[in-house]
Amino acid sequence: MSRRPRRLSACAFALAVVATATAAGEPPARPWMNTSLSPDARAALVVQAMSQDEKFQLITTAYGSASDGKPAPACALGSAACAPALSRLGLPALQETDAGLGVARPLNAHSRDVATALPSGLATAASWDPAVAEAGGAMIGREAHRKGFNVLLAGGVNLLRDPRNGRNFEYAGEDPLLAGVMAGHAVRGIQSQHVVSTLKHYAVNDLETGRNTMNAKLDRVAARESDLRAFEIALGIGAPGSVMCAYNRVNGTYACENAWLLDQVLKRDWGYQGFVMSDWGAVHSAAKSALAGLDQESAGETFDPQVFFAAPLREAIAKGEVPQARLDDMVRRILRSLFAVGAIDHPAKAAPIDYAADAKVSQHAAEAGAVLLRNQDNLLPLARTLASVAVIGAHADRGVLAGGGSSAVTAQGGNAVPGLAPTVWPGPVMYHPSAPLAAIARRVGGKASYASGEDIAAAAKLAASSAVAVVFVQQWAAESFDRPSMALNGHQDALVAAVAKANPRTVVVLENNGPVAMPWLAQTAAVLEAWYPGNAGGEAIARLLFGEVAPSGRLPLSWPRDASQLPRPAIAGAGLAAIGLPPQGQPADTVDYDIEGADVGYRWFQRRGSEPLFPFGYGLGYTTFGYGPLTVTTDAAGAVTASFAVTNTGSRAGADVPQLYVQLPGEQVSRLVGWQKLALRPGETKRVRLALPAVRFARYDDRGHGWRVAAGTYRLLLGRSSAQIEQRAELRLPAVFPAGAQR
Ligand code: BGC
Repeated sequence: MSRRPRRLSACAFALAVVATATAAGEPPARPWMNTSLSPDARAALVVQAMSQDEKFQLITTAYGSASDGKPAPACALGSAACAPALSRLGLPALQETDAGLGVARPLNAHSRDVATALPSGLATAASWDPAVAEAGGAMIGREAHRKGFNVLLAGGVNLLRDPRNGRNFEYAGEDPLLAGVMAGHAVRGIQSQHVVSTLKHYAVNDLETGRNTMNAKLDRVAARESDLRAFEIALGIGAPGSVMCAYNRVNGTYACENAWLLDQVLKRDWGYQGFVMSDWGAVHSAAKSALAGLDQESAGETFDPQVFFAAPLREAIAKGEVPQARLDDMVRRILRSLFAVGAIDHPAKAAPIDYAADAKVSQHAAEAGAVLLRNQDNLLPLARTLASVAVIGAHADRGVLAGGGSSAVTAQGGNAVPGLAPTVWPGPVMYHPSAPLAAIARRVGGKASYASGEDIAAAAKLAASSAVAVVFVQQWAAESFDRPSMALNGHQDALVAAVAKANPRTVVVLENNGPVAMPWLAQTAAVLEAWYPGNAGGEAIARLLFGEVAPSGRLPLSWPRDASQLPRPAIAGAGLAAIGLPPQGQPADTVDYDIEGADVGYRWFQRRGSEPLFPFGYGLGYTTFGYGPLTVTTDAAGAVTASFAVTNTGSRAGADVPQLYVQLPGEQVSRLVGWQKLALRPGETKRVRLALPAVRFARYDDRGHGWRVAAGTYRLLLGRSSAQIEQRAELRLPAVFPAGAQR
């Protein structure tokens, strides 16, 4: 396991403040505090006033917690990193904290700080509702600000190329457009609170096994049309102040010293104005990294072999290997981002947090993102008049599972099931104290009884004597390892099979990182994908089961039948002995993503002509929807407008997500180009009009160095999922060269 040491923080809580006193001499006039100037102008003024030492102070951060016997630095708040305030200049300390699902300070045992935990990034993505992502971002950004942080290490947007990747739950699924839009809105929400967000991990950090050295091999054009496209879209929407470069190598060169990724694509082609920070332990050089476009080294004193952006970079500048202008550019970019989000004008500082209100934001995301995968004979929604419900497994009497690693948030009430292995990094295994059992018991007129599931026979007996059985299954995943298979751990498959046999009215609720094998699927009546549902998850699940809110999530991923359907059936070296999954073999030096290239997820299935268990975009509800004819218009610039009517043809209110895909001329595979989530009352019809910018129909043209729409006939497909197409239309597009910034 290659991961930094994690130690308890012994630091006291010290707030980042804008210092007004000066270190020595006359206070500078600080013309950069003039808020009518642009962030660029303000940053340039600070750079002019800075000494070389002050510049160097800003381009490194230190680990924000005690570690390896080393005390935490004076600026530390017990989090991921900090850099001291530049008091002479009136600049606050940089205070960085993980991550995308809430303010995560798992090691801050001294302050025992808690925060609101959003559901998985995959749950938010499964809502297909940018407003859900933005509200979640704003909520965690506000909590970060009120805990004294001005940088949130959020914005995970690595594409889901493998359901076994241990960090899928931090990301936004397999499709570059959906993932980019959802991550972009999350970032926008965070930054609305005067907190810089990252976008990470740039790039192709799509597996955890061997992540610190692994080489991700991916053709450059394919990368531009897949992993990089997700970043490009998110960047256009969210304008993140920082992009975090990844641990792995990309086509042979470490991501944080990869000039093609950082300088060429990010900064030149996409015109990115913010700063690139390294992942923790991802820096391998001074001059090479600086020249490639790295702007800030994160916690190098703890995680890198040495602090490259200290003496080694000074030396490289002195020798003329790295121009002084590059150092100034690094500093300017960092300052510009802080000014742009208002982190300097509205400094982060301790303030009260309304945890009850924030839990509602999390609950709403969990409800909007849960996906109903199966519902035979409309067993769901459950009636409150049920005589009895058996609630079984996955500690449903105590809480709901969360993913592990740096993004793990300790919610109010702490860990509901402490002591499960691993209790140390990448643990602890965390259950948020929102018990589904209690939430179900509050709703059902009859009795709700619990069986842990450890004794399969006892669980089956309880199920047999109950009107309905709800079995919870769990799959813990975490940063730093991948699961070697899609199977559920332990005897959970046997448990579900036995319960379903004892009572055909069995509902399975999944709390998981992503697709798992479900050998018992056909025996069950209903399956609800709840992901890691966040710290109001128990309540959200109960509301969905009882129809207080209708499930409306759609899969942001393809659900394979088994690993043999994947581009890479095995991940060499995947596993984690601490949870009974001993790694099999050595991690591969190179992972060949050229196998599928840009045909990630549903496009891979289409290319192979194989059927997943559930397709990308799939999800049921408690009502039905009908689609009217699809009409399409185009303009000279290649922009397409599609419109159609959606009617709720059932008897309950619900929300639908009609999706538009396109087949490019001569292509069999399709590509998501638009969607809309809309709520409809029974019998109600709404007209949907989707403006689809030309770039969504474009391929990346390496020779022309840009996006290019080929003249020809395109097939537009309106579907309920990538595999269930209801309406088709053809359109002719002229040759156009749209800007990538179009979304
Ligand atoms: C993770 C990042 C995280 C950083 C700081 C790294 O190991 O890959 O996502 O932000 O640690 O904790």
